[in-house]
Amino acid sequence: MSSVFYRDPGSTYPTATRAEGMYIYDDSGREYLDMSGGAAVSCLGHGHPDVVRAVQEQAEKLSFAHTSFFTNEPQEDLAARLAARFSEKDAKVWFTSGGSESNESALKLAWQYWRAKGQPDKTIIISRQFSYHGGTLGATSISGSVFRREPYEKVLHDWPRIAPCYPYRNKLEDETDREYGHRAAQELDEAIRLAGPENVAAFIAEPVVGATLGVVPAVPGYFEEIRRICDHHQVLFIADEVMCGSGRCGTFYVHDQENVRPDMVSIAKGLGGGYQPIGAVIARNFICDAIRDDTSAFAHGHTYIGHAIACAAGVAIQKCLDDGLLASVTGKGEHLMTLLNKRFADHPHVGDIRGRGLFVGMEFVSDQKSKTAFPVEQGIPGKLKNAAMRNGLICYPGGGTVDGRKGAHLLLAPPFIAEDQHFEELADRLDKMLHSVFSG
Ligand SMILES: Cc1ncc(COP(=O)(O)O)c(C=O)c1O
Repeated sequence: MSSVFYRDPGSTYPTATRAEGMYIYDDSGREYLDMSGGAAVSCLGHGHPDVVRAVQEQAEKLSFAHTSFFTNEPQEDLAARLAARFSEKDAKVWFTSGGSESNESALKLAWQYWRAKGQPDKTIIISRQFSYHGGTLGATSISGSVFRREPYEKVLHDWPRIAPCYPYRNKLEDETDREYGHRAAQELDEAIRLAGPENVAAFIAEPVVGATLGVVPAVPGYFEEIRRICDHHQVLFIADEVMCGSGRCGTFYVHDQENVRPDMVSIAKGLGGGYQPIGAVIARNFICDAIRDDTSAFAHGHTYIGHAIACAAGVAIQKCLDDGLLASVTGKGEHLMTLLNKRFADHPHVGDIRGRGLFVGMEFVSDQKSKTAFPVEQGIPGKLKNAAMRNGLICYPGGGTVDGRKGAHLLLAPPFIAEDQHFEELADRLDKMLHSVFSG
């Protein structure tokens, strides 16, 4: 009987004992093709020698020196690399140990910024429905995912949430993408006006929605309009790139593809690639300046921020990205998308295949034409996960795609080292898995 309080206390899990490249192995020797990096974490696959060496070498030199007392070389190096990738000079990098901490930090930075500017009433954070920004209380408060909020609803902040930009379900037939994007963004304008701009601190959204909707990029122009509305009302714009960022969509920061510059960007997952728990907030210089001029410190922190080994792993990953891996993401993603369309677009229960770079989603429906979702009681996401594991495939199924409860999708986030043969193998295993869920 295990003493572990498992994620799902009613489930048992195989014991992972070893991993190499694209595969994880359990204690019975079973092999799993890792096509989602768990939850979009493994950008370099497993056991990458450069990262393993960097971690080992750093552990021998210096593991930890508290950041209230010291800085360290890997922290400085990684911050400089992340700031240099940002589109504005002199951005500052605040390290964390994961995505939830990054978003919590971004919220506190926003509140402290407005306090420093003499507007302490600007506290409301507007976000979007069906979103996930993390498991801590602040991050759950800004998350729109219905079932993830439900048990904690009484203790969460109930700030306004607008509809996501979700063309498959929300774009009208006679609308162009631009018209739809413009209409969807106006919800933010209305929400800010209703709350009073003098009370709104920030708007947060994922440039490409990950876990909750199954990889949904916005239509062109949507985020440009969002940026314009935020500027108009003096509201900060936070891009949550925890899942979609760090190169997964083909550029290190996803917002660059939307022609906008957020005021803060949260990242994690691919930043440490599963080798170390690390995240970060990239904040524009004006935010840091205001806080420094006002109180001389940011009243926030966690023990492990800027951890030397975690940052050393991050630096090694940045070097691998620059060595050609990041440049390969778009081409590999196009290849994967072509293959998935060829093999599954005609499947009667595949409603949509969508994505960007090596970030791909499939949405499942009971009827392709009407886009009707399966009844919740059929438990399609759970069946997809079990069937995937049985067929030696790690992918990331989810539910609530349509209205927070109904709907099912699957997320694929292959490591950037994936080659053609891995995509073929994925399609074969996916085929078997879909057959056992929908025809079995
Ligand atoms: C968009 C987004 N933000 C934040 C988080 C929370 O990150 P973490 O689980 O590292 O705390 C996640 C996790 O899946 C996420 O997908």
